[in-house]
Amino acid sequence: MAISLNCSDTDEFVVELRNVKKLYPVRQSLFRNRQQSQWLTAVNGVDLRLKKGESLGIAGESGCGKSTMGRLLLKLIDSTEGQYLFNGEDVTVLRSKEEILRFRRQAQLVFQNPFEALNPRFTVQRSITEPLTIHGIGSSKEERAELVKQALRKVNLQPAEAFLEKYPHQMSGGQLQRVVLARALVLKPAFLVADEPVSMLDVSVRAGVLNLMKEIAEEMQLATVYISHDLSLLQYLCDHTAIMYLGQIVEYGRTEDILTKPLHPYAQALVAAIPTLDPGKRPEEIPLSKHVPSPVDLPSGCLLQDRCPYAQATCKASEQILTDVGDGHLVRCGLVCANNDSLKLEGGKAV
Ligand SMILES: Nc1ncnc2c1ncn2[C@@H]1O[C@H](COP(=O)(O)OP(=O)(O)OP(=O)(O)O)[C@@H](O)[C@H]1O
Ligand SMILES: [Mg+2]
Repeated sequence: MAISLNCSDTDEFVVELRNVKKLYPVRQSLFRNRQQSQWLTAVNGVDLRLKKGESLGIAGESGCGKSTMGRLLLKLIDSTEGQYLFNGEDVTVLRSKEEILRFRRQAQLVFQNPFEALNPRFTVQRSITEPLTIHGIGSSKEERAELVKQALRKVNLQPAEAFLEKYPHQMSGGQLQRVVLARALVLKPAFLVADEPVSMLDVSVRAGVLNLMKEIAEEMQLATVYISHDLSLLQYLCDHTAIMYLGQIVEYGRTEDILTKPLHPYAQALVAAIPTLDPGKRPEEIPLSKHVPSPVDLPSGCLLQDRCPYAQATCKASEQILTDVGDGHLVRCGLVCANNDSLKLEGGKAV
C-alpha cells in the first residue's frame, strides 16, 4: 500500500520507501537433532517519503525496528521486500561497486557512539580525509586538506588547525561527535541518518551537538532521519515523526500534532511517558499490558491487540491500515478512525 505522507505526488523526494519489509532468519533448535528456520519481522511494510530539507523522527520502544530502518535507509542491509527510491532512482538492489559508492556519497550515517566510530590510531585529519580519498574527491592533497578544514569549521571545531593532529583519546565526547559529523558532511551528502546521536554523550554537551546538527541540516537542506527513544528530543529536531511498533508505523504526522494529540493507543502511551516538570500537564496514562508479542510469531490483525485497553473483536479480525485522519496525520487503528477522534478511558476502561 502506498500512502501519501503529506506530500503531493508531483513533489520530488530524496527518499521514498514503498512497502519495505525486513525479515531476519532465526534458527530455533526444537529437538536435539532437528533445527527449523523461522523469520523475525523487524520492519513490516513501511512507506516513507522525505523531501530535501525535511526532518523525520522515528520513535518507539526497544526492538521495534528503528535501527533496522536506519540500516535499510543507508543500504547497509537489503530489504526482503519492497522498493527504495533515492532521488527518484530505484536503489533497491544496487549492483556494481560504483553504484554503491555513488549512493554512499549521498547518504551518510551519524553513529550513536563517537568513541567507537573513529579509528583510535587515526588523527582527525586522516579520519576526515579517508572518505574524500575513497570517493576520489579533491584533485590534490592540498585541496583535500582544505575540505577537511572547512568541515571542521562547519562543526565549530575552531581553529580547525588545532584539531587536525589530535587523536580520538585527546578529545571530549562532544568534540568527537563533531568530528564524526564533519566526516559525514565532508562528502556534502543529501541525506543523513542519525541513530540515537547523543545518547552516549554527557547531558551537558547534548544540546550543543543537537543545535549544531539542526543548524547544519537546515543550512545544507539535508533530508534527515533522527532515530531516538526520546520523543522530547524529536520534538526539538523534527518536522514530522513516525511512531513504530513491532516493525510497523502506527502513527505519523507533524511532530507537534503527535505530541499534543497522539491518536494511536501506543503513541498515547509513549507520549504519556515523557517526563514533565509540570504534573498538571501530564496526559492520562494508557495502561498497556507489558507483554510484547514475539516478532517471530506476530498475531494477525492489530499487533497491539493483546496490550491495548480498547481492543475489541474487530482488532483481532482485521489488519489495521495506516489511514489519514486529516491534515496528513496518519494512524493505524480502526477504532480511532471509526470514532473520528482519540479513544477515551474512564477508570481504566474504554468508553
Ligand atoms: N542481524 C539481526 N539478526 C536477527 N535479528 C535482528 C538483527 N538485527 C536486529 N534484529 C532484531 O530485529 C528487531 C528490531 O531490531 P532493531 O535493532 O531495529 O530495534 P531498535 O528499535 O533499534 O531497538 P533499540 O531501541 O534497542 O536500539 C529486534 O527484534 C532485533 O532483535
Ligand atoms: Mg537501535
